[in-house]
Amino acid sequence: MNPRKIVVLTGAGVSAPSGLATFRSLGGLWEQHRIEDVASPEGWARDPGLVLRFYNLRREALATAVPNDAHRAIADLQDRFEVVVITQNVDDLHERAGSRSVIHLHGELRKVRSTADEATVEDIGYTSVALGQVCAKGGQMRPHIVWFGEDVMHLDEARRHIEEASRFVVAGTSLAVFPAAGLVRYARDKAEKVVVDLDPPAVSGGFRVLRGSADVVMRGLASEWLGSGKVR
Ligand code: APR
Repeated sequence: MNPRKIVVLTGAGVSAPSGLATFRSLGGLWEQHRIEDVASPEGWARDPGLVLRFYNLRREALATAVPNDAHRAIADLQDRFEVVVITQNVDDLHERAGSRSVIHLHGELRKVRSTADEATVEDIGYTSVALGQVCAKGGQMRPHIVWFGEDVMHLDEARRHIEEASRFVVAGTSLAVFPAAGLVRYARDKAEKVVVDLDPPAVSGGFRVLRGSADVVMRGLASEWLGSGKVR
């Protein structure tokens, strides 16, 4: 274990204080849309226009969202630690708060990729992608998002980071979706393990449970670990 290494596994609850909808809380995204219609290859095949609109709206909302204290506190830990963020979130708020090492397991909202060549990935910022927008090889551009039934990204890299961490934080995730949720088992027994959530999910392995909003709790945890209340 690396005594200076912190790994934080985040979910939608970390971005909730920034006003971005979670998935399974009341009124969340999966209450407004059927997953199979907007987040599956079958839904894409059935109605690509609906899928593009779903992600265009979320990308547009991201343009006006700002990082909250959870993102900022995690970035502040970099003052004294090697911090790797492993996120299920597709927003760019960790990066905008200053986190320098962010691994997106489920893709990135700002990026689109070609259906003809998955190596063709473009960052379109907060703009929209339309039907008929194709890559040089003529493939329709699609959201660079992992849909249900598709392979999660960077899983082995994420596991290796968790195995090296002396501090492991699980923040703002229901741990409802695998294989991302299964990563928690790679934390070392001797690592300091913390779960941060409004309504903490059950997680075995000796986690310290901090119940509360991620922006408030992460600010306190970062102050504790930085030792001098240095968090902005
Ligand atoms: N502070 C801390 N936790 C919060 C807050 C908050 N302000 N608001 C909500 N939460 C918690 C909820 O209690 C819940 O445990 O965040 C978690 C959100 O859970 P989900 O909505 O299931 O989101 P997430 O765990 O990120 O979903 C994982 O599922 O649909 C897929 O790809 C999608 O990446 C997503 C994955």
